[in-house]
Amino acid sequence: MQYLHSKEFYYQERDRVRRKSHTKAAQFLYLNRTCWNGLYRENLSGKFNVPIGTKSQVLLADDDFKGASSLLESAELKVCDFEETLSDARSGDLVFLDPPYTTAHNTNGFIKYNQNIFSWDDQIRLRQCTEAALNRGAKVVLTNANHETIHKLYTDLGTPEVLSRASVISGSARARG
Ligand SMILES: C[S@@+](CC[C@H](N)C(=O)[O-])C[C@H]1O[C@@H](n2cnc3c(N)ncnc32)[C@H](O)[C@@H]1O
Repeated sequence: MQYLHSKEFYYQERDRVRRKSHTKAAQFLYLNRTCWNGLYRENLSGKFNVPIGTKSQVLLADDDFKGASSLLESAELKVCDFEETLSDARSGDLVFLDPPYTTAHNTNGFIKYNQNIFSWDDQIRLRQCTEAALNRGAKVVLTNANHETIHKLYTDLGTPEVLSRASVISGSARARG
């Protein structure tokens, strides 16, 4: 799709309903890489509605679709609550947890959004499930906002590492960068 990429093609493809799994996958990659900042958003009818972005590179030098595909062949992908997947974790497993970050300290539009999809009770429940997985011998890496409530929640449950990162997606332009 690289050579076909243009504004006209992007909007045509965005409207197109692909039915086969491999053409659906290619469509997803194309739209994800050329849309506005890689954002995924749908309208109320479940239709992808992100406008075209500024990046036009569809294929990247370090793409390894075959390698990823062969690794995924033996993987089981589940869409479920973390409690279900974490309850399987035990010695020999490495678990990476990247939950919605607590927004208790933020004053941007993400507060309402994140509090609805992942409440503070969920943060507490995640800590409890993490502790149980650690007690069964699993190793866990977990990310969250660098906020005192999170440090307090995870007291005695590992070693915090503070990192900074750049973000190109944010409700306010000021927070991007
Ligand atoms: C910070 S994002 C993770 C992003 C992901 N690591 C990536 O790189 O694309 C948080 C994810 O947690 C998921 N999530 C929210 N509530 C959940 C729950 N109760 N159980 C499992 N996942 C949940 C959201 O759907 C969202 O995809």
